[in-house]
Amino acid sequence: MPDRADTVAAVKLQALEAEALTAIDGAAHAAALHEARVRYLGRKSALKLALREVRDRESGMALNAVRERLESAVAAREEALRRAELDRTLAEGRVDVTLPGERPERGHLHLITQIRREVEDIFLGLGYEVYDDREVETVEDNFTALNFPAWHPARSRRDSFYLDEGETLLRTETSPSQIHVMQTREPPIYMVSIGRVYRRDTIDATHYPIFHQFEGLAVDRGITLADLKGTLLHVMRQLYGPDRRVRFRTHFFPFTEPSMEPDVSCMTCGGEGCPTCKHSGWIEMGGSGVVDPAVLEYCGVDPEEYSGFAFGMGLERTAQLRHGVPDIRYLWEGDLRFSRQFGW
Ligand code: DAH
Repeated sequence: MPDRADTVAAVKLQALEAEALTAIDGAAHAAALHEARVRYLGRKSALKLALREVRDRESGMALNAVRERLESAVAAREEALRRAELDRTLAEGRVDVTLPGERPERGHLHLITQIRREVEDIFLGLGYEVYDDREVETVEDNFTALNFPAWHPARSRRDSFYLDEGETLLRTETSPSQIHVMQTREPPIYMVSIGRVYRRDTIDATHYPIFHQFEGLAVDRGITLADLKGTLLHVMRQLYGPDRRVRFRTHFFPFTEPSMEPDVSCMTCGGEGCPTCKHSGWIEMGGSGVVDPAVLEYCGVDPEEYSGFAFGMGLERTAQLRHGVPDIRYLWEGDLRFSRQFGW
């Protein structure tokens, strides 16, 4: 039978263990757990002191059992705290991959650039070279080489943007590309030149002082008006639909002889007559003709051996006709409410 002193010691030990377990299990974080461990298992803890003084085997075993239980309680608590910490980090950094993403704002090409590229593709498909030309032009190449007489009104300072006393100006048309190409290449030549041109026009629904043209030139042996018509028919059908028809009206341009204005059957009504075509069934497309022998000669191309055709048209007009844009200014003002309608 254990004596009274033993019983008292055992009860104390139980109370100590209970107190220690409460402290350990209740430790809310690593620092509190460390404190509890020092207090109940440290070198100066009641348990360690008691162990050092133990004399009999039984009390030794009892004390050691408590020590082991407390140590494993500390280890368990440590693990629980570590896991809680991990869970918290994971929860904080959690990403719900099923949420819809934030769509990045994505721009798109301006309508004129889109049509410009489309025109380039059509001509590349015909085997043409896309010729990128300058916008500052000599009076010589912009007018004289193209057979414009000295008195032609386009030469006036009131019609064109001169950069000096009369030598250079902003090109008024893409036609000088004809001169540049013929002066630097040997025929056969098949080229398209696309870019900005400048005229001193007052801004209104159909005029803007900057606009874009595309200019085609073919120079080869045996080129005729039929080649011009076939080429324009193909290009117009690519741009405006497979049912388009093309007709020519005679006209005058200084650098073509004969000169023609091509019309395309109306893409809105198909030729019946409607407001788009002013009830004529036809839409004017620009200028064209057979390259004047004087222009060939100026560029060193023998008109006895070679002949050619040329044409020039506006990109803004193409865009307006394709999309029913009523005012050319929309194409230049950069209003996003307009531009965004032509995104993808
Ligand atoms: N350059 C002329 C213009 O801006 C358009 C033109 C007419 C171009 C006849 C041509 C052509 O190549 O053959 O009004």
